[in-house]
Amino acid sequence: MKKKVLSLLLAAAMTAALVGCAGAAAPAPAAEPAAEAAETSDAADVAETAADAASGDLANAKVGICIYQFADNFMTLFRTELENYLISQGFAKENISIQDGANDQATQTNQIQNFITEGVDVLIINPVNSSSAETITDMVVNAGIPLVYINREPDAAEEQRWQDNNWNVCYVGCDARQSGTMQGQIIADLGLEAIDFNGNGKVDYIMVEGDPENIDAQYRTEFSVKALTDAGMEVNELDDQVGNWDQAQGQQIVANALANHGNDIEVVFCNNDAMALGALQAIQTAGRTVGKDIYLVGVDALTEVVEDVIAGTITGTVFNDHIAQSHGAADAAINFVNGNTNDYYIGCDYVKVTTENAQATLDSLK
Ligand code: GAL
Repeated sequence: MKKKVLSLLLAAAMTAALVGCAGAAAPAPAAEPAAEAAETSDAADVAETAADAASGDLANAKVGICIYQFADNFMTLFRTELENYLISQGFAKENISIQDGANDQATQTNQIQNFITEGVDVLIINPVNSSSAETITDMVVNAGIPLVYINREPDAAEEQRWQDNNWNVCYVGCDARQSGTMQGQIIADLGLEAIDFNGNGKVDYIMVEGDPENIDAQYRTEFSVKALTDAGMEVNELDDQVGNWDQAQGQQIVANALANHGNDIEVVFCNNDAMALGALQAIQTAGRTVGKDIYLVGVDALTEVVEDVIAGTITGTVFNDHIAQSHGAADAAINFVNGNTNDYYIGCDYVKVTTENAQATLDSLK
C-alpha cells in the first residue's frame, strides 16, 4: 500500500518533470534554459508530433549516433535506451550506428565526417566538446542532414544561429542549474544544526567536478552551493577538484581531501553519481559514516546510488532522466526524418531523490 502511494507520488513527479520545462510545473526553481529566446518545448510534445506523423519509412532510415565516450555510466544508460526506443519506433537495428568518440573531439569529428559520406538520414550527437558545436553544425548542415544534439548543450549563441537560419538542428536535454539547485536543497533541508559537525557555524564542503568544459559540471558546481547560501547558510569550500565524471578519480580526490581536511569535511558534493560512488569508497575507507558524520550527494540516480540512498550510505541524488531525454531525442530525429521540424530546445526536468522517494524511483527504473 505504502509502496503504491510512493509510486503514485513518483509518477506524479515524473509527469511534472515531463511537462515542466515550459515553466509552469517545474518542481524546483531553475533558471531559464540557454536557448531562452528560441522556441522551446518538452519531450512529451515532441513524442506526440512524432507519433502523429505515423512513420514515413523508418525501417529504411539510417541514423548515425555519436557518443562522447562509451566509458561513461550515465551515457551508457542513455545510449542503450536510445537504441531500444528507436527500434521500438520502427528503425531497423542494422540502420542504427553508434560510435564511441573516446573523449576525443578529433576522433568524433572523423566519425561525423564518415556518417556524412555514408549519407545517413539524421544525426544524433553528444559532442566531446560543446565548444566544437559550431564546426559540427556547419559540417552537418552543409551536407543537408538534420541534427539532434544531446546531453552537452551548445551555447546560447550557437542555438540562436539554428533559429536565425531555420536549420533542422535542435538540442534535447535538461538544464543543469536545476540539478545543482536540487543537490544543494537536499543538503540545506537537513538544517545547519545537523550538518555543522565541527560547530563553526558554516557548511564545510568539498566539490568534485565533472569535465570543466561541460556546462553540466559548471552549473552543478555553482548552483549546489548557491542553494545553500540562498537558504541562508554560510559556506566554506575546503577543496574543489576535477574528477571528469569518473568513479576512480572521484575516489582519489575524496581520499586526498579526507587526508588533508579530516573531520572538517561535512559535505561532499559530486557533479555525478559515478564520482559519488568513488567518494563513498573513500569515505568508508577513512572510517567516516554518511548520515552520521558526513553527507554525500550526486546526480544521475544510477541504480547503485539509489540503493545507497535507501540504505542511507548516500544522502541523496538527482534523477537525470535518461528515458525522457533519449525518447525526446529519438522523437525529434523521427520528426526530422519525416520532413517535420522541431523546436530548437527540447527540455525535461530533473527529480530530487532522497530516502523519501528512493524506493519508488528504483521501482520505476526497473
Ligand atoms: C551528465 C551526467 C554525467 C555525465 C555527463 C556527460 O549529464 O550527469 O554523469 O554522463 O553528463 O556529459
